[in-house]
Amino acid sequence: MTIKFSDIGLAPALTQALEAAGYESPTGVQAEAIPAALAGRDLLVSAQTGSGKTAAFLLPSMHKLSNRSEKSGKGPRVLVLTPTRELAQQVEKNAQTYGENMRWMRTACLVGGASFGFQTRALSRPVDIVVATPGRLMDHMRQGRIDFSRLEVLILDEADRMLDMGFVDDIEEIVKATPADRQTLLFSATLDGVVGRMAERMTRDPQRIEIARVDDGGKIDEHLMYCDDVRHKDRLMDVILKEAGFDQCVIFTATKVGSEELADKLSDQGYQAACLHGDMPQSWRNRTLNDLRRGRIKVLVATDVAARGIDVPTITHVVNYDLPKQAEDYVHRIGRTGRAGRDGTAITLAEVREHHRVRRIEQYLKRTLPEGVIDGMEPTRRVPKGGSNGPRRNGGGGYGRNGKPGGYGRGTGGNGGGKPGNGGSYAGRKPSGSGSGSGYGNREGGYGGRDGGSRDRRDGGRRFD
Ligand SMILES: Nc1ncnc2c1ncn2[C@@H]1O[C@H](COP(=O)(O)OP(=O)(O)OP(=O)(O)O)[C@@H](O)[C@H]1O
Ligand SMILES: [Mg+2]
Repeated sequence: MTIKFSDIGLAPALTQALEAAGYESPTGVQAEAIPAALAGRDLLVSAQTGSGKTAAFLLPSMHKLSNRSEKSGKGPRVLVLTPTRELAQQVEKNAQTYGENMRWMRTACLVGGASFGFQTRALSRPVDIVVATPGRLMDHMRQGRIDFSRLEVLILDEADRMLDMGFVDDIEEIVKATPADRQTLLFSATLDGVVGRMAERMTRDPQRIEIARVDDGGKIDEHLMYCDDVRHKDRLMDVILKEAGFDQCVIFTATKVGSEELADKLSDQGYQAACLHGDMPQSWRNRTLNDLRRGRIKVLVATDVAARGIDVPTITHVVNYDLPKQAEDYVHRIGRTGRAGRDGTAITLAEVREHHRVRRIEQYLKRTLPEGVIDGMEPTRRVPKGGSNGPRRNGGGGYGRNGKPGGYGRGTGGNGGGKPGNGGSYAGRKPSGSGSGSGYGNREGGYGGRDGGSRDRRDGGRRFD
């Protein structure tokens, strides 16, 4: 039997708004976290990307708001901390969607890069929910503009990322400024190590909810492609973009400058492309993300600033143009596609000499990434024998979905010593229409028009730093 939102004790104002938003039933993490939070428990939660964690913390907190506060004052009753400005804005938007029928509810988003005036005015009136990045919130706290005396729920989203970004002291200080009897909900990719120790200090008898990856129908098809060097990588990129049949795509680069250069190049090639990184003016960052949401941008070239939490359900493909610096970022990056039960495709490009970094990702994932090539564009260099984590490329041919043929064939596979995926091919979901029956097929089939090499590494273009 499917559980309904109304079965888990949420106020009708909320369940009606959820219905209007097209949410039929709670996701796994919501079904566990919402009743526990409604019962007043502190929570430590980790669950896969795109599984609906935002609603899992917002809904029970907003349910609380439907009862009047017993305390006087005008400060927030719910505080959400997020690592990035874009994520804070997105969470505030979600709160507004879920609060559609709570017209009296007021929210404020306190992030850097936006004017203080507007935020200060918002804080001068009673506010129910504040969503903030730690730095800007601290600025307001130092100015004495925030009153936490009626705070009931403190939420940390992407807690591990906030610690990585060096927000630990800010967070400790913010926590100290909030009432001791608050409820604390901590969401994090990992609940161990530093995050676990911080969680211990800031929660009381927390319930731990860890939802393993569930097969909810949606699935991310992952592919790993080795290349010899950057030029080779760019040729692969050209073919991938031409043939992947993507709707919207996010390409991750390692550096801000790299994201600008690649976005410029793709724009020159006629793609509706734009870059997103942390040195851009915030108004520009906002516009870019809005354009992506509205479908005006088809290719977003971004640094890891876009790796966490960003929810644009129409993103069909993620490409790791550069490998992530930290293995766990791989999971977050590819999680920008395949959200809320949808399918997605993630392609990771790696130079052969970077094979040890790929191994690190695989060790973190505790599985190997399906490896393959585009016919005629195989790397000439060899990937050295597998690392310490055992067998590589266990062969067995392509991995079609739902038993269908095709997929990212690895052909003869091999044991890791040989050329990656020799004989393999990247066939699309449907068999390729090209005569060869191989190559990087897309829905239209075929793999042609390989005009790779027309690389234009202009140095000009937008600069923000
Ligand atoms: N119960 C539900 N039914 C249908 N769609 C849902 C439901 N809950 C959430 N969604 C949708 O699923 C998408 C992903 O939700 P959300 O951004 O909260 O995921 P997340 O778990 O926080 O992911 P990440 O780890 O990437 O931050 C959103 O588009 C959201 O609107
Ligand atoms: Mg999230």
